[in-house]
Amino acid sequence: MSSPGAPIPMTSRKCGPLSGEAHVPGDKSISHRSLIFGAMTIGETKVTGLLEGQDVLDTAKAMQAFGAQIEKKGDTWHIHGVGVGGFLEPENVIDCGNSGTGVRLIMGAMATSDITATFTGDASLNGRPMARVTDPLALFGAKSYGRTGGRLPMTIVGAKDPIPVSYTSPVPSAQVKSAVLLAGLNAPGETVVIEREATRDHSERMLAGFGAQISTEVTNEGRVITLQGRPEFKPQTIAVPRDPSSAAFPVCAALITEGSDVLVPNIGLNPTRAGLFTTLREMGADLTYENEREEGGEPAADLRARFSPNLKGIEVPPHRAASMIDEYPVLSVVAAFAEGKTHMPGVKELRVKESDRIDAMARGLRAAGVQVDEGEDWWTVHGRGFGNVKGGVTCESFLDHRIAMSFMVMGMATENPMRVDDGGPIATSFPIFESLMAGLGAQVSRD
Ligand code: S3P
Repeated sequence: MSSPGAPIPMTSRKCGPLSGEAHVPGDKSISHRSLIFGAMTIGETKVTGLLEGQDVLDTAKAMQAFGAQIEKKGDTWHIHGVGVGGFLEPENVIDCGNSGTGVRLIMGAMATSDITATFTGDASLNGRPMARVTDPLALFGAKSYGRTGGRLPMTIVGAKDPIPVSYTSPVPSAQVKSAVLLAGLNAPGETVVIEREATRDHSERMLAGFGAQISTEVTNEGRVITLQGRPEFKPQTIAVPRDPSSAAFPVCAALITEGSDVLVPNIGLNPTRAGLFTTLREMGADLTYENEREEGGEPAADLRARFSPNLKGIEVPPHRAASMIDEYPVLSVVAAFAEGKTHMPGVKELRVKESDRIDAMARGLRAAGVQVDEGEDWWTVHGRGFGNVKGGVTCESFLDHRIAMSFMVMGMATENPMRVDDGGPIATSFPIFESLMAGLGAQVSRD
C-alpha cells in the first residue's frame, strides 16, 4: 500500500507584481489516456509533453505491470502496447497512489480481459467511491471485491466472455464514462454510454484518433456515445497540450496580485474544460485569449491575465460545473477577493474528489476571515473585496494537490501569509508549481 512521504509544510507570502510567462505542464487527463490507449495498441505510440506528475507516473507503472513496455528517450515517451484484450495479469498489487483517474480508467481497461488485478492507493484514494465504476463493469461480466462502501483496496476479476452494455451514467463523470468505453473496447459489438451532462470528451476524441469507431449523438436524454468493440488500434504520435486546470493557478494568482501581468501560453480551450475562464471573465477579470488557434483538433490560445481589483461575485450556472469541476477550489479564492457573493450550485461531485473540496476550502477560507455558506451540493463565498482578506492561518490540504495550490495562491494577496500543512500532493499534478510561481515573482517557500 502507498505510504505517504513526510508532510511538506509550505507558506505563501504577499508579493509584488507577478509577471512573465508561465509554461504549465501537460494535461493530466490526456496524459493518463495517452499511456492507457498506447498500452492497448500493438506497435509504438510516441508521446511528447506528457505530464510527469506522480499520478501519471503511477499509471505508467501500472501499464507496465499489465505488459506494456514504456520508456522515455530524450523528451519522448515510447509505449509498446499489447493490443486490445492483450493485457497480462499483473504479478503484484497495482498502486495508483492519489489518482482517481488512473485507477478508474485502468479498472475499465482490464475489466473485459480474463485476468484478475488488485488495486490500492493512498489514504485519499482508498476513501473514494469506486461503485460508480464497478457497477457498470459488472454489466460486462466483471466481478469486484472491495472494502465496505466499494472502496479500495479492491480486486477486479475481469469478464471471460464480456458482453457489450448500454449504460446511463447516474453521475456527471468523465472517469465513469471513460471506464465504460475502455471496457467496451474488448467486448464484441456496440457499447453505449449515455451522459445527461457533458463531461470532458478526451476519451472520445482519442479513441477516434486511435482508430476506433465511435460516435456521439446529442439527444433529449443527453449525449449518447456509441463505440464498436474490438477495434484495430493504430499507434499514434501524441503531443499533449498544456493543462487548463494547471493554468488556472498562475491565471488566478495574477488576477488577485497587485500590478500583475502574466502570459500562460498554449492552453487547450476544449469547451468541456474551459468553464473557469468563462466564469472569471463574467466576474470582470482582465483575462484575454491571444493568438487563438486550433492545436491537434482542439481550440487553444495563450491566456493573458492581469491584476483585476474590481472583481464581482456572480452566480455560477450549475450546467457549467463539469467543465470546471477541478477549478472550484481556486475560484473560491478569487471569489474571496471579489465584491459580493459568488454562489456555486450543482457541485455535489466536489465532495468526492481527492478531498471533500467544499469542506477543505471552507475551513481555510473561514479561518482566514472569509464567510462561506454551504449545503450538500452548493456553496457561497462572501467576497471581501481586494485588500480586505486577512489570511495568517495554517490550512489542511487533506492529501489534495488543488487544495494546497489554492491556498498558496491565496497567500499571494492576503494581508498575512497563508500556510498549508502539506504541499507534498502538489507533485501529483504540477511538480514544477513552486519554481514556476517563483519565476513569476511569487514567494512560496517550504518551512
Ligand atoms: C478526470 C475527470 C474528472 C476530474 C479529474 C480528471 C478525467 O473526474 O475531476 O481530475 O481525466 O477523466 P470525474 O470524472 O470524477 O468528474
